[in-house]
Amino acid sequence: MAATGKTGNLSLVLSSLVLLVLLMITPLTWSQMQKRPNIVVLFADDLGYGDLPTYGHPTSSAPHLERLAQEGMVFTQFYSSSPVCSPSRAALLTGRYQVRSGVWPGVFWADSTGGLPLNETTIAEVLKTQGYDTAIIGKWHLGVGVNQTYLPTNHGFDYYYGVPYSHDMCPCPVCFWPKVPCGLNDNCGSQWTGCPVYENDRIVEQPADLLTLSSRYVKQASRFIQTSADRGNPFFLYLAFQHTHHPQFAGVEFTNTSARGKFGDALLELDWAVGEVLSTLQQAMVQDNTLVFFTSDNGPSLRNEQRGGNAGLLKCGKGTTYEGGQRVPAIARWPGVISAHSRTTQLASTLDLFPTLAKLAGATLPSGVILDGVDMMPILQNKQGSRDLFFYYPTSPDPQYGLYAVRYKQYKAHYYTQGQVNSNPNNHDPDCRPSAQRTRHDPPLLFNLNNDPSEQFNLGNMSQYQQLLKTIDTKKVEFEKTVVWGESEIAKHSSPDAEPCYNRGCQPFPGCCHTPQWWWP
Ligand SMILES: *[C@@H]1O[C@H](CO)[C@@H](O)[C@H](O)[C@H]1NC(C)=O
Ligand SMILES: *[C@@H]1O[C@H](CO)[C@@H](O)[C@H](O)[C@H]1NC(C)=O
Ligand SMILES: *[C@@H]1O[C@H](CO)[C@@H](O)[C@H](O)[C@H]1NC(C)=O
Ligand SMILES: *[C@@H]1O[C@H](CO)[C@@H](O)[C@H](O)[C@H]1NC(C)=O
Repeated sequence: MAATGKTGNLSLVLSSLVLLVLLMITPLTWSQMQKRPNIVVLFADDLGYGDLPTYGHPTSSAPHLERLAQEGMVFTQFYSSSPVCSPSRAALLTGRYQVRSGVWPGVFWADSTGGLPLNETTIAEVLKTQGYDTAIIGKWHLGVGVNQTYLPTNHGFDYYYGVPYSHDMCPCPVCFWPKVPCGLNDNCGSQWTGCPVYENDRIVEQPADLLTLSSRYVKQASRFIQTSADRGNPFFLYLAFQHTHHPQFAGVEFTNTSARGKFGDALLELDWAVGEVLSTLQQAMVQDNTLVFFTSDNGPSLRNEQRGGNAGLLKCGKGTTYEGGQRVPAIARWPGVISAHSRTTQLASTLDLFPTLAKLAGATLPSGVILDGVDMMPILQNKQGSRDLFFYYPTSPDPQYGLYAVRYKQYKAHYYTQGQVNSNPNNHDPDCRPSAQRTRHDPPLLFNLNNDPSEQFNLGNMSQYQQLLKTIDTKKVEFEKTVVWGESEIAKHSSPDAEPCYNRGCQPFPGCCHTPQWWWP
């Protein structure tokens, strides 16, 4: 009896242990599934694959991002949907390739009358159906339009605070003078109005004081997190930094403090802001129920040379469909769900955030539209993800040429290659330069990116790869059959009426647009 009793106790203990272990390894615990997680997407601008210490940069400093990486998962094969800004952001927010939504070719300018079409469903709109508070702080770059038609508050965001496009589209002397002189290679758009800072659909500052902008972004982000947490509402914060786009700037606390010059200073300020957001999550006691996802809109702008960022071992940079243009750093953290110190080589993309976040929130996906993303939760939980394809469109896609490249498993086939000004007119690699005209490859250039991440050794004309090229060709044709090109929003006419101006209708334009606190002509 005694022996049986012991055995009984033992089996009870064992089964409890098994249950406990099962509970521990069950990817999403019951309470986490019940409770819609908060979502924070941190989006850097022109930050390349090789720019962070976590990705091997020898002199960059970014301690908060390093901590984020240690507490979560680092991706080594994560792609933005485009090698440039506006289309990349359109795809992030809609889960759809930019050519479908009409955000092509190139990017929106300060005087563009178009924008992300209002009938596109953004992730903010989807999350709102599940009771989320939604905010975007920072760079929008999906159009302002005449009458502020395209601002984020018309796209599912409850709150907006930020500069609605790149700060190099503002006259540089106005943004920096008299505090900091412009750099020689800053190439700013001196013809347009000073950089506006919007709060919702109102201009609250013009031109933006870039030297204090990041601390205001942090303040607004923290206020938003704290308010939603106090109310007990789930929230979606999309914090899209102006950093590390050129011209690089940083507040006085960060100027001249890094070992990597102006780019390093800007990165330090970005990293500080990330740290502030992470500590707000902790103070608001929502850290454990928040998925934080950090990534970048495209590769580094190499034309800015020493201040232009770094693609690490990848070929070329911003503006090209080589890996340096679109493979970007990505870090995900969700304590208790994503294992700390994890690292994945699986394929994933900014396109995948939409379906992933929608599912986490328990939302249904929009019907009647083709989505290009796949749920990446399996990857985040160390299981096999379902993406084995990725399609590359160039900076300025054209229906006549279509896709430039296709990634299939570890292989990448280039049907067309082209250099680009953002990848530097003087690049040591002639393939990256703007003088490298669009070139069709038949057979396509083929690289095994697992063996050759720098795309150096072409396998495309070897007989043993012809069957694989046929398979890739079929995948390409199948995909392109599904693509209906949205009418180009970027090709719509431009007009000074679309340029943000605090004193609309004033003269002499554009200098008169300044808000009262700014004096100079
Ligand atoms: C949005 O409207 C345009 C113009 O009517 C249409 O071509 C497009 O397919 C619509 N897009 C979506 C996602 O419904
Ligand atoms: C902008 O608003 C004004 C005043 O309501 C209106 O007259 C004009 O047609 C609008 N323009 C556009 C492009 O929506
Ligand atoms: C940064 O260094 C430059 C060059 O030495 C100097 O001109 C500038 O005043 C410094 N700025 C700050 C805020 O320390
Ligand atoms: C294969 O392609 C490379 C690069 O395009 C070229 O240099 C080489 O001559 C080609 N080899 C053959 C056998 O066609």
